[in-house]
Amino acid sequence: MPKDARVKLSPSILSADAAAFGEQVGQAVAAGADYIHVDVMDGHYVPNLTFGPMLVNALRAKTDIPLDVHLMIESPGDFIDAFAKAGASILTVHVEACTHLHRVIHQIKEAGVRAGVALNPGTPISAIEAMLPDVDLVLAMTVNPGFPAQSFIPSVVPKVRKLRALLDELDLEAELEVDGGINTSTVAQVVDAGARVLVAGSAIYNDRESVADAMARLRSSIPSL
Ligand code: DX5
Ligand code: ZN
Repeated sequence: MPKDARVKLSPSILSADAAAFGEQVGQAVAAGADYIHVDVMDGHYVPNLTFGPMLVNALRAKTDIPLDVHLMIESPGDFIDAFAKAGASILTVHVEACTHLHRVIHQIKEAGVRAGVALNPGTPISAIEAMLPDVDLVLAMTVNPGFPAQSFIPSVVPKVRKLRALLDELDLEAELEVDGGINTSTVAQVVDAGARVLVAGSAIYNDRESVADAMARLRSSIPSL
């Protein structure tokens, strides 16, 4: 078994060449990506605008890889069905954007999609604790959401460690994902803290190296479990 067999990589196409998304996703899939991370931003919940269900639908037609769709939008419940129909495999909503988190998580599950909940660096675990048994994925943001290539916030690491302990203690199988500033210098500390799905944008899609080389470098920096 490779040393990082239990750690998944979810390349974020936010840093990919938007004129060649199909090709860029194909490169990550060929290099062994586990998921493709699609960052949806609405210009309200975060100060940036990106993609909608149309892109998810277009990617779904090109690849079978699970699409890990991160909704950084207000009122995410209004768009669950559209993203489910488009072919999202995981839909992650921000606890800070949900007035009725329980309702939205169950709406996602009823649509036949795996449900994730995200928490920002400033949001405590207590905000999602009651929902842990209901979710398939917990996303701990290691930057404030909105943009690629921001600096990793190290003070989130103890929270990742506490989340890991809580999931293990409750014997829950929800995946623990981290997103933001993940690169060869930061990956060891989040994996050591218990993260098992790593989102990476600018560390995988950049001008310095091929997607395959970048993914190989990132994987080789993952510590043995
Ligand atoms: C940030 C997004 C991230 C972003 C990560 O708001 O949620 O998924 O693409 O980019 P990097 O890996 O460059 O920090
Ligand atoms: Zn993201």
